[in-house]
Amino acid sequence: MLLHKIEEVRKHVKNWKKQGLSIGLVPTMGALHAGHLSLIKKAVEKCDKVVVSVFVNPIQFCPGEDLDKYPRTLEADNKLCEEANADIVFAPSPSEMYGEGQMHTNDFLTYVIPPFFYTNKLCGKSRVGHFDGVCTVVNKLFNIVQPDFAFFGQKDAQQLIIIKKMVKDLNIPIEIIPCPIVRENSGLALSSRNKYLSEEDKTYALALSKILNNIKSCYKKGITDVNALKETAYAFLNEHHELEYLEFMNENDLEAVTTATDNTRVFIACKVGGVRLIDNLLLGE
Ligand code: PAF
Repeated sequence: MLLHKIEEVRKHVKNWKKQGLSIGLVPTMGALHAGHLSLIKKAVEKCDKVVVSVFVNPIQFCPGEDLDKYPRTLEADNKLCEEANADIVFAPSPSEMYGEGQMHTNDFLTYVIPPFFYTNKLCGKSRVGHFDGVCTVVNKLFNIVQPDFAFFGQKDAQQLIIIKKMVKDLNIPIEIIPCPIVRENSGLALSSRNKYLSEEDKTYALALSKILNNIKSCYKKGITDVNALKETAYAFLNEHHELEYLEFMNENDLEAVTTATDNTRVFIACKVGGVRLIDNLLLGE
């Protein structure tokens, strides 16, 4: 069932709660691919009722980013959700979520702002304010849908860690369920932004997963010095790659480490053909 209005969703949620049914939320920005479908599948298995939100959240895009050209494929998304047995697809307009006045000037909106320590690194460094926009919209979705469980992909690992922190710090009574990255056979992590890649760029994009896998096998062979592990990346990079970061951080609190352990997550962001791609991997997995 495709719904656009907050009040309509609330009506169903109220009814479900009355019946004691468990609710799962899968927040997305649409352009659904197999990665999202794996979240929906997990939600359908675990919960009595599942809401998938499809909302390209304007306040998490920075000036100059791809807000206008971000793929919007609601009809296809809705069909995929129906096939996956989701109960509601919630696709609000920006003005439904933020009101007419706040949509263009975000000045008067109440924001949820995660700690600077978690946001001044990795994607947050180049995307200033991005995680404020993410936490604000995720909180709004939590309040609208009031789920028992919310499902997030590990592809956006920094986002997942920040959301877990927010839920803990603000005592939000929702269990966050992390879901593994889904990859093409080639190793490329699925992303809605892969649609922007040419076939040739797709082959260059494989460098990200190759770098991560190679780092992991070096670590498994006993190399733990982060500088030495970082050095191994350069063999996979050429003029088609614009490396933004390759960082080693503690899985739980995003503290940078100099010696790798099983708890270290390696994060990479790299532009290929002008498309910004991210990937990550936990060394202990
Ligand atoms: O990961 C995403 O697609 C978005 O950041 C999210 C969590 C749906 C919030 O807009």
